[in-house]
Amino acid sequence: MQTKILGATDSAIADAGELLKRGELVAFPTETVYGLGANAFDAAACAKIYRVKGRPSDNPLILHIANRAMADMAAAEINETAAKLIAAFCPGPLTLVLPKARAVPSAVTGGLPTVGVRWPANEIACRMILAAGVPIAAPSANLSGRPSPTTAAMTAEDLAGKIPLILDGGATVVGLESTIVDCTTKMATILRPGAITAEMLAKVAGDVCYDPGLGQDDDFAPKAPGMKYRHYAPKAPLTVVVGGQSGSGEFWRRLVQKLQATGQYIGVLADSTIIAALRQTVSEKLLFAYGEPGDLTSMAAKLYEGLRYFDTTAADFLLAQGTANAGLGAAIMNRLLKASGGRVITAGGDM
Ligand code: TXA
Ligand code: MG
Repeated sequence: MQTKILGATDSAIADAGELLKRGELVAFPTETVYGLGANAFDAAACAKIYRVKGRPSDNPLILHIANRAMADMAAAEINETAAKLIAAFCPGPLTLVLPKARAVPSAVTGGLPTVGVRWPANEIACRMILAAGVPIAAPSANLSGRPSPTTAAMTAEDLAGKIPLILDGGATVVGLESTIVDCTTKMATILRPGAITAEMLAKVAGDVCYDPGLGQDDDFAPKAPGMKYRHYAPKAPLTVVVGGQSGSGEFWRRLVQKLQATGQYIGVLADSTIIAALRQTVSEKLLFAYGEPGDLTSMAAKLYEGLRYFDTTAADFLLAQGTANAGLGAAIMNRLLKASGGRVITAGGDM
């Protein structure tokens, strides 16, 4: 199949709407990452999403809407917590887990009685959803297990030849997938951290908690089925560097030299100061800067591009600088720990 990559002109959006109505798949930008969309009420179209991505069938899809009325097409009930969160954060990088409407095929929700509903803050996405006239089921537009795409080119890397159309809306703003909040529990529960932080949610919904399955504790199963899979993973093994010295160029130089002594090509994803400190030690190709020190917004935006970048290099061992585990840092650390399979170096005083 030939995949067209089109800028978001009126005619491209109209084409996307027609394809979706006919049961075809369309990849499209959102403010978080690119999505791979199908008509949510068309079980056969949604089955194609699973085939194209190689996605396990128990991993439910999020339904994307473009106005408040569409929320009622997707969900059977919008409770008070959900209504408050919608008023405060939608459209925006937030997915609400709600009781599913009967019309939503259970194949789309992985058999769950609930459904994830998200109103993206991206004009192209919203125009496309309105052109289709139905909620659009869409996971991130990567092959299962790979980092989510944040540009049309990254989307094409994974999906060219497999779908008819990619709408190109440039680089996404946030760079990490939406925050998922389960509104069916007594206390709103964060199933996946994202740019709408726990602190922001608590201000609107009162107390919120994290799903225990998000921790590194193996005794708990994550409630968002997708969170249990290895994810976001580059081809070379990744280790996250955290702790007091993780912002020190001198620490990084010593760490990298020690690892290089084993004969491996070490790739480094870190802030621009660390990268500058490593220029004499590591070849330019094996360095990727993800922003100025402490700039979490830029780290989030560049993380997946960085992880994918190293797949094109000779790196056989990757180090990524972590962040404090709060605010947007909680989302960055969640993705880094998944990508690393939990491998962490704590940079204390000594090594
Ligand atoms: O930012 C985003 O959310 C992007 C863009 C495209 O909107 N989408 C996205 O979809 O990240 P996906 O499929 O890659 O991740 C959806 C996650 C999975 O971990 C899935 O298990 C979880 O949401 N999920 C979906 N429906 C759920 C439900 N009813 N209950 C619990 N978790 C659910
Ligand atoms: Mg995904």
